[in-house]
Parts: sequence; C-alpha cells; structure tokens
Amino acid sequence: MSDDEIIRLEHVYKIFGPQPRGRALTLAKSGMKKNDVQAATDHVVGMTDVSFSVKRGETFVIMGLSGSGKSTAIRTVNQLHDITDGKVIVDGVDVHALTGTALQEFRREKMGMVFQHFALFPHRSVIDNTGYGLKVQGVEKAARNEASMNALRLVGLESFANNNPRELSGGMQQRVGLARALAADPDILLMDEAFSALDPLIRRQMQDEMLDIQEQLHKTILFITHDLNEALRIGDRVCIMKDGAVVQIGTPEEILTQPATGYVAEFVQDVDQGRVIDVKTIMVDAKTCSADATLGQALDAIGDRFGAFVVDNDGKPTGLVSREEAVAALAAGSIDVSSVLIEDFDRTGARTTFNDIYAEAGKGRSLAVCDEGGKLIGAIHLRDIMKEMGRVERLIDGFEREVFM
Ligand SMILES: Nc1ncnc2c1ncn2[C@@H]1O[C@H](COP(=O)(O)OP(=O)(O)OP(=O)(O)O)[C@@H](O)[C@H]1O
Ligand SMILES: [Mg+2]
Repeated sequence: MSDDEIIRLEHVYKIFGPQPRGRALTLAKSGMKKNDVQAATDHVVGMTDVSFSVKRGETFVIMGLSGSGKSTAIRTVNQLHDITDGKVIVDGVDVHALTGTALQEFRREKMGMVFQHFALFPHRSVIDNTGYGLKVQGVEKAARNEASMNALRLVGLESFANNNPRELSGGMQQRVGLARALAADPDILLMDEAFSALDPLIRRQMQDEMLDIQEQLHKTILFITHDLNEALRIGDRVCIMKDGAVVQIGTPEEILTQPATGYVAEFVQDVDQGRVIDVKTIMVDAKTCSADATLGQALDAIGDRFGAFVVDNDGKPTGLVSREEAVAALAAGSIDVSSVLIEDFDRTGARTTFNDIYAEAGKGRSLAVCDEGGKLIGAIHLRDIMKEMGRVERLIDGFEREVFM
C-alpha cells in the first residue's frame, strides 16, 4: 500500500445467499453477469471483482443506480458486511481479519459514518446526539461537549446545540448527522446517500458546505450517490458501478469527456458539461508578441489563432491584439500594434469552469489564462469551448448509436 493510499479494495466479491462461496462465486469469478448468476444459482451478486483505491484526503464518490452495489461496497470498508472473496485494506490493515473489540476500536478510531436517514435520537439534544459516539467511547462529558461544539460549529449549528432534533429541518438534522461523524475526528468519512433525502436546494447547500469543510479538514471521504451531478460536483474521483461491477473510475472531467462505455455516456448526457469541464483541459499555448511589434509581426505570431497577447518582463499579459482587428487595421494603412491594442481584455484561471467564463468568452475575444501570480500560461477562445462541447456531444452520440443499433 503506497503512503498516500488509505482505502484499497482488491478484487472484492460479495455474494448474498445460503452458500456464498459455492457455485455462485465460481460463476461470478468466471465473469458471468449478476443476472445470469442469479438465474443459475439463486444467489445475489452484490459486488463482483471490485477494485479501487482511495487516496488520503481524497473525496472518492461511488455512483450507480439502485441495486448496483454501492451500499454493499461502502459496508465492506468498515466490515458491516463480510466479503466473500478478495481483500479490503484500510490504512494498512486487513479489515476483514479484524474481529471483536479490535474491529470496534478500528472502526471508531478510523471511520465515521453518515447515512441517508438522519438516525438521530429524538429525545436527546443536538449536542448530545453529536457527542453520542464519543460517549460510547467513554470520553468524559467536558471533552465530549467541546468536541461536539467544534463539530457543530463546522456545520453551522452551534446555536442549536441545546435544541431538540425535532425542532430542526431535514437539512439541519442531516448536518447534525455530519457533525456526529466529525466529532470523533476520524480519518475517514463514509457517507451513504447522505444528501439524497434533501430538497435539491438544501442538497446543493450541503454539498457546498461539505466542500468547505473538506477544504479545512482534508478528511478522506467515501461518498455514495445515485446522482451523477452530485458525484461530479463533489468528487475528486468518481467510480461508476453497474450490476455489482466497476464500470469506470476517473476524475469528473475524465468521466465526462472520456466515458468508457455507452452506459456511462448515457448518464453523462444529463450533465451540464460547462459546470465540470475547466479551462485547463482545452486551453492552448498563448501566442505572444512584443508591445512595439508591427501589425505584420503580430499577425505572424497569431497564425491561425484568434489573437496574441503582449506580455511584460514578468510574463504578465498587458494587452491583446485580435486577428480580426489587426487585419482590418493593416488594410486601413496602420503599422503598429499599439493602434489596435486592447488593454481591457479578460483573464481567467486554469481551474475555472466553462460556465464561469461564458459571459467573457461570449464577447468573442481570446481570454488570457493566468496562474495565481498573474503570469500568462495559456489562452482560450469561445471557439475552443464550442469545439470541446461538440466533441463530447459527438462522442455521446456515437455511443448512443452503438447502444441502439
Ligand atoms: N442483505 C442482503 N441480502 C440479499 N441481497 C442483498 C442484501 N443487501 C443487498 N443485496 C443485493 O445486493 C445488490 C446490491 O445492493 P446495494 O444495497 O449495495 O445497492 P445500492 O447500489 O446501494 O442501491 P440503492 O441505491 O438502492 O441503495 C442488490 O441486488 C441487492 O438486492
Ligand atoms: Mg444503497
């Protein structure tokens, strides 16, 4: 296990039925599909040959339709389910070799779990619900309350500490659930459809808050959802499951721009690409010219692009020469770029998504892509964005034909 790896599943199989290690496992291992194994043996394939590895500090999302094996997979990580075959390693420990108090302690120390249904005690206050896990661990009251208040502060509920959960909205109750998992300060958060019961708006707020919290705490989060938009929004990487098997693992952009199968492409269709694809994926090397260049020199530099940037000694862009305007100015008899230099050009960062630059890109000029220090690292034009969107559309179309032919 490499240093930055904290959870690893190796060829894990989970068969449900009276004889999980019998013929059903043999058939699943031979590559037979879930439905066929079930028809042949009356055993349900929960997971078949599932392997993935989660890095420390990563938000790893498992996405799939109902019955695809998501909950089964997350439950093998803390041994709420045993496994039929394979290996589950968490922080160097073979989880399924643990039993009794060793297992309990390992779970407590390493993992916090948040479920879809809030599972709060209705008669205990918010702070007592938050500190419940610590109480079970025997942490004394003062320390417990301090940790609980810290966790409630993280989820924005400190002023509700003494309320009863029933006085809280669904979204707030789910935040208590999250606070409860955070209170024991585990390395790993296991979240099974944690936001799925919430209204869309509240759900988005919770996603935002989780991203904020994650930025402060850098936990390892294994998050399960059946919503690809949610997966792409919060995941550093996304694992797509179908019928107990892994279909694709990749960054949100990889899933979106290189769907591995028609099945993934079908999901991808419903996603707003502009929210996921970012500038760095398609930016090009910026063309540059000096401030005292002639229009002819500038046009040479621009070549088949839409413009060139004038850059100062620190590598920071100070102006833009657009091809169209340079051509027109040359035709009208001008000689220097200074006559057409645009100083109020737009700039963007490499990690900005398309949606955030549509307005600027819509002006039809090249945008300067700059690093945090303001240095020019690339350029992007509306055409580049349209081309990329078109590429993804065609890719998805291609899969569709494949599926329906
Ligand atoms: N205890 C069990 N006994 C028998 N079959 C089970 C059991 N738990 C899960 N399964 C089966 O294993 C498969 C995977 O179920 P799982 O709960 O992991 O799916 P899921 O992806 O979490 O679905 P959902 O989105 O509905 O929560 C399903 O076919 C399910 O019927
Ligand atoms: Mg589930």
